[in-house]
Amino acid sequence: MSRRILVCQTQEDLFEAAAQFVVQSLTFQPDSGKTYSVALSGGSTPQRLFVRLAAAPYRSKVDWSSLCIFWGDEREVPPEHSESNFRMAKENLLDRVPIPPNQIFRMEGERPAQEAAVRYEKVLHHAFSQNNKEGVPRFDLILLGMGSDGHTASLFPETAVLEEREQWVAAPWVEKFHTHRITLTPPLFNAAKQVLFVVSGSDKDQAAEAVLEGPFQPNRYPAQIVNPVQGDLVWLLDREAASRLKKSSFTEWTRDNEKML
Ligand code: 6PG
Repeated sequence: MSRRILVCQTQEDLFEAAAQFVVQSLTFQPDSGKTYSVALSGGSTPQRLFVRLAAAPYRSKVDWSSLCIFWGDEREVPPEHSESNFRMAKENLLDRVPIPPNQIFRMEGERPAQEAAVRYEKVLHHAFSQNNKEGVPRFDLILLGMGSDGHTASLFPETAVLEEREQWVAAPWVEKFHTHRITLTPPLFNAAKQVLFVVSGSDKDQAAEAVLEGPFQPNRYPAQIVNPVQGDLVWLLDREAASRLKKSSFTEWTRDNEKML
């Protein structure tokens, strides 16, 4: 597993770097029939990345027909709800690019979370049954964010799902929001070929320091659980989110050294 931490001077650069990483990490081979499995993150941060990917110059660099879209987590709300991660991705990306509808696999937030989790696990079994000897689905790319408490996807501090090693999809109760969530589990994040964290804002600085430089305490900082066993882990942060990191911990990303992604 390789881990890289890249810090961008501005939010603008952060989403530029993230868009470049997504395009570079999916080495499209048109007409190869190969498809790429990408799990999208939720929350507000990815919105600007999605808008950027759906516009020039990135829109023409992606072979959208070869993408299979999944989610890392979802809220227990219907797809038209303002809190829906599916809705956010639909409005900012999926409605603007030609991904075949039968290659978009959303989590059914409108169902009771436990039922939605069981159904999504079946969806993953089917979607990955073709090329998957290892058993656990191996996503080509998983996008993740991080909360100011160090949670990622819907893996929240001090929750039982952090210990999950069998199930691929879980429906944890999140006391903080008095709701259930639907989320992929640690084994799936750690089986991925590539994981990209995109983290922005000063409210994330303490969690970023604890997760990236602090002792290993995944129960307290769940984002620490994500360490793809045979994959690449890239953290992209803006200056605010990275303000407490030691200079030695990261590399500056600037537009003229975009090759480093
Ligand atoms: C969700 C996300 C969650 C998110 C963080 C950061 O469904 O909320 O998957 O893990 O990435 O909460 O959220 P922001 O990007 O809104 O700060």
